[in-house]
Amino acid sequence: MARTRAATTTPERLRGQSGNTENETTQASPVAHRKPGEARPNQPPMFGGLSGSRRNVLDLDDFSKEEIEHILQSADGMNEVLSRDVRKTPTLRGKTILTLFFENSTRTRVSFEQAGKVLGADVINVSASASSVSKGESLLNTVRTLEAMKIDVLVMRHPHSGAPYYVASKIDAAVVNAGDGTHAHPTQSLLDLYTMRRHLGDIVGKKVTIIGDLHFSRVARSDVWGLRKMGAEVTVCGPPTLLPYGLRPGTEQADSAAFTGINVVDRVEEALEGADVVMALRIQQERQDSGNLPDLREYSKLYGINADRLALASPGALLMHPGPMNEGIEISSEVAHGAQAVIEEQVSNGVAIRMAVLYMLCARSRGGE
Ligand code: CP
Repeated sequence: MARTRAATTTPERLRGQSGNTENETTQASPVAHRKPGEARPNQPPMFGGLSGSRRNVLDLDDFSKEEIEHILQSADGMNEVLSRDVRKTPTLRGKTILTLFFENSTRTRVSFEQAGKVLGADVINVSASASSVSKGESLLNTVRTLEAMKIDVLVMRHPHSGAPYYVASKIDAAVVNAGDGTHAHPTQSLLDLYTMRRHLGDIVGKKVTIIGDLHFSRVARSDVWGLRKMGAEVTVCGPPTLLPYGLRPGTEQADSAAFTGINVVDRVEEALEGADVVMALRIQQERQDSGNLPDLREYSKLYGINADRLALASPGALLMHPGPMNEGIEISSEVAHGAQAVIEEQVSNGVAIRMAVLYMLCARSRGGE
């Protein structure tokens, strides 16, 4: 049975995030050491057709369709650079990008590093376990210390939802959210949109079905924002205990404004029918409480994407997964490495998208170009 979520109110009003869906450019709150009421210098000149108002990339809720479009087009140019024999440009020479990860990562951290280096920036990687955080230094003191060493962009992953918003309100360097708790992962959403666009062309009206652990998925939240802004039709399906509040039967209060205006389908077969894109989400065992998912084998049997289930989607439908995959649980090995899978391509496209994002933020700090 399909249910459609209409717009609902959201209690999830993180600092600097209004929850509005269209054409909003509100950013994180001004820094504490500015005079009360004094705004950040948030309006640099136009460059490359972009509004020029973006200071940080925290989620896609405050991106306009045009802004997303611009980043996707810019990533085409970045992919051209990546296809050259010598993958190096001096575009961001003299800029410093710092990655600060409080959670493990393979794809996101390495692709930001690669993106910065290809563009000629200096890239410094800090892992929380090897920093003075492990000696008790606060998050605020850590980022202020790092900023004192003159950084232009801070790429940050943190287990707590909202942490990058807090940091963005305290430092002058641009902040990119590389994943905060269960809340958002905007560059993953951009690379997912980019991958879909390269195969499907315009994604307006395309049916995108997202299956699995939606409750704990920051990727799903950012993907839904991006997909809705770009005009896709979004369907979600998962065990009731892994659906976000507001989508679970018997719950009214939405846990995020992201999950509005989408179809919620109980049976996975119905959700997959006619899909142009099938996205399997990772079962996030590290975030789950006992009782969210009592049995992985049962999950795999009822919701796992295998060849029979994928055959219900449109012929040639794209199979996506943000990674890392639990093969044999949410996705079978056969389809994960089959002809319809674009999972490795998502990873490759992640470098181009992150180059586009870093370029956009650094061009802003150069006063636009
Ligand atoms: N998709 C994603 O965020 O992967 P990593 O955890 O490897 O960065």
